[in-house]
Amino acid sequence: MNDPVNVLGISGSPRRHGNTETLLDALLDGAREAGADVEKIVLRQLDYGSCRGCNACHRTGVCVIKDDLTVVFEKITAADVLAVASPIYSMGITAELKGLIDRAQYFWARKFILKNLYFTDEHIRRHKGIFISTAGLGWDNVFDSAFPALTAFFNTTGFEYWDNIIANDMDRYGGIAGHPTALAEAREKGRNVVDLLRKLQAEG
Ligand SMILES: Cc1cc2nc3c(=O)[nH]c(=O)nc-3n(C[C@H](O)[C@H](O)[C@H](O)COP(=O)(O)O)c2cc1C
Repeated sequence: MNDPVNVLGISGSPRRHGNTETLLDALLDGAREAGADVEKIVLRQLDYGSCRGCNACHRTGVCVIKDDLTVVFEKITAADVLAVASPIYSMGITAELKGLIDRAQYFWARKFILKNLYFTDEHIRRHKGIFISTAGLGWDNVFDSAFPALTAFFNTTGFEYWDNIIANDMDRYGGIAGHPTALAEAREKGRNVVDLLRKLQAEG
């Protein structure tokens, strides 16, 4: 009997049930169809502060701020798949998601200053990160400034950056429902990532 595959979706869009959260939902539906345990967190429903840059975590390995993100980080640590969603705002990720990523600084402090957190290559191979995004413009490069922040976040939290599910040109399509392929692609990738993790579990 395999362990359940835990898929955690984090929506960083301030707009409920908009293009980006809908795309995330399609991925989560696919994961659920493949038998995963799925949870979605909507950042705009939470109450949290931004990193204060106090650097206390460099000494203690924990964040001095105790708020709604405290449990979110516990859930991130327990997830096998982390699907992080944000629309493009001002050519980058939203303030909601950036706020979460900055607060992950204590992981960085534990890894590189205190050296009491280490993810093995095997751990990283079994933990998959997916970035989901939409943008109004049809530019090919409209997501480019988001990728480095997600790369850093997945690295910091021990996930392999597995894939992107991105859909631009929302203004022309009139929203994600008008996009010819994105929702089906998201659902399929949700199924695929769970199947992949099952295969890795079966390998032992
Ligand atoms: C404040 C704000 C800033 C935005 N900035 C950009 C941008 O820089 N480039 C772009 O292509 N789209 C931009 N957009 C459009 C959104 O990325 C697009 O409509 C997206 O699909 C919205 O996703 P949502 O429905 O999840 O909110 C912006 C939208 C808002 C509200």
